[in-house]
Amino acid sequence: RLNLAILISGRGSNMAALLKAAAAPDYPARPVLVLSNRPDALGLETALAAGVQAVAVDHKPFGKDREAFERAMDTALVGAGTQIIALAGFMRVLTPWFVEKWQGRMINIHPSLLPKYKGLDTHQRALDAGETEVGATVHWVSPGVDDGEIIQQASLPILPGDTADTLAARLLPLEHALYPEALARACTRIAQAD
Ligand code: GAR
Repeated sequence: RLNLAILISGRGSNMAALLKAAAAPDYPARPVLVLSNRPDALGLETALAAGVQAVAVDHKPFGKDREAFERAMDTALVGAGTQIIALAGFMRVLTPWFVEKWQGRMINIHPSLLPKYKGLDTHQRALDAGETEVGATVHWVSPGVDDGEIIQQASLPILPGDTADTLAARLLPLEHALYPEALARACTRIAQAD
């Protein structure tokens, strides 16, 4: 079992789905750390309640020095013995230094059918473009934002009357099923490479 760290910025419902999946004895990852860049993230309490070490590394005191913030995160990650990182609603763009350091060991969930709609406001942009479906993608993290190799996707038809909010709400349970499956695949790949 690979030591798993989950990076969050807020609610942490995808993190909770990963923790739940990882409670199964045959799951290929074991959560060792939940880390939030926002000290008030709800997900930190959820993680503590599940008995997982949870820490905040506030990005604010570091100002514009992204690498200094990331070095502080990296110290916590290495200290916990991290072997794989899952970004789960982590809303800071990472520098090439951090991404390269963890490349091949870091995955992300993004609320669009990549390569479409990288970045923010994915559902609104899909609606505006007249798409017939939206979805979520779990991918390896590479230096380009939302740009790495795709591991697995889930999709959902857009219905009449849908808004960005209704789509996000309907997509969320699909994300919660998708992410544990995709993380397990990522673990298999890392185990084969090691
Ligand atoms: C999820 O929908 C995730 O796909 C999205 O944020 C939400 C986090 O919810 N991620 C991104 O937008 C990444 N740029 P959660 O905190 O409840 O898991």
